[in-house]
Amino acid sequence: MSARIILGIESSCDETSAALVSIHGEELRVLSCGTASQDDLHREYRGVVPEIASRAHLDRIIPVIRRACAEGGVALKHLDGVAAGHRPGLIGSLLVGTSTAKAIAWSRNLPFVGVDHVIAHLVACVLDQPPLVWPAVGLVASGGHTSLFRMESPLGAQLIGATIDDAAGEAFDKGASILNLGYPGGARLDALAEVGDASGIDLPLTRLKGLDFSFSGVKTALALAVTGPHATRPAADFATAYRAVVIGQVVRTLERALEQCKAPSCLIGGGVASNLLLRREASRICEARGVALRIAPHRWCTDNAAMIAGAGALRIAAGERDGWDLAAHPLSLLARGARGPQGRRQ
Ligand code: KG4
Ligand code: ZN
Repeated sequence: MSARIILGIESSCDETSAALVSIHGEELRVLSCGTASQDDLHREYRGVVPEIASRAHLDRIIPVIRRACAEGGVALKHLDGVAAGHRPGLIGSLLVGTSTAKAIAWSRNLPFVGVDHVIAHLVACVLDQPPLVWPAVGLVASGGHTSLFRMESPLGAQLIGATIDDAAGEAFDKGASILNLGYPGGARLDALAEVGDASGIDLPLTRLKGLDFSFSGVKTALALAVTGPHATRPAADFATAYRAVVIGQVVRTLERALEQCKAPSCLIGGGVASNLLLRREASRICEARGVALRIAPHRWCTDNAAMIAGAGALRIAAGERDGWDLAAHPLSLLARGARGPQGRRQ
C-alpha cells in the first residue's frame, strides 16, 4: 500500500493554516504546514473580532495553501484528498476554510471530509509518532474547550467530562488581562509564572466532583487578590499562584479520569497543552501510573492545519467521505448536548 497525501485546512478562529500530511497504514507524517496568525489584527480589541477574522481568512487562505504545497514539494494534482475543520468555531471563519477545501476537492475530483477541531487537537498528539496502545484518556485544553475523553482509537472519542463555564485557555487569557500582560496572554502568563513566588497569595483550588471543570471562580478570586493586601507584589507572583490553581484543577481531574478509565495511554492537546506546569505535572502523574503520555509538541498545540490534515487522512483512509452539502457548525459534535448531522444528541 502506498502513502496517500492529504491537504488540511484550518480556519476556525484566528489562525489561517494549511498543511500536507501523508498517511501510510496508521502512520501520519507531516510534510508541511503554513500558518498565518491574526494576533496583530485583534490585539487592540483584546479578543478575536469574528468579522475581522473571517475577512482576514479570505485574504490569507490561498497564500497559505500555496506555501504548504511549495514547502511539501507537492502540487495540487498529486493530492489524494482534502480535509477542513468544519466545526466548532466562528461560523464565518469556518466557512472560508470549508468552502475552499470543497472547491479544491470538487475541481480535482478528490474525496472531501470535514473534521471536528476538538478531535483534531488529540490527533496532533499522534503526528510523526510510533503507534500507541489503546484505549487512551484524552484531554483537550484550549481557548474554547476543556474536555476529557475516553478514546478507543484516534477518532473514536467519547466525552467523559467538560467545563461547566470557562475553558482553561479562556481562564489564562482573562487572568493575563487582569494582570495587564497583553493579548494573547496565556503563554505570557505561563512564562511569568516560571519566575514568580506565590507564597502568601492564597487562591482557592476549585474542587468539583466527577470529571467536570470550572474556571470562572478562580478568575474572580484573582481579580480580588490583585487589589487586596498583596496589591504591591509583582505580577509574576500572582501569575505563579493563578497558574498553580488553574493547572492544579486540570491535573487533579485528569488523575481521576486515569483512575476511572485504567487506560494504558494519555493524550493531551490544545493551546493549554503548551503550558510548562501542565507538561511537568502530566509527566509526573503518568509516570507514577505507568501510563504512556503523548502531549502534542509545542508547534501542534495551538491551532494548526497539520492536526486537521491528520484527522482527515485517518477518515479518508478508512473510506469515509462527506458530501458537498456538509455545513459548518459553531459547536463540536463532542460538546455536551451538541446535535450531530442526524439531529442526534450527545
Ligand atoms: O487551541 P488553541 O490555539 O485555540 C482554541 O482552539 O481555542 O488555544 C488557544 C488558547 C488561548 O486561550 C491561549 O491563551 C492558550 O491556548 N495558551 C496557553 C499557553 N499557550 C497558549 N495557556 C496556558 N499556557 C500556555 N503556555
Ligand atoms: Zn483549537
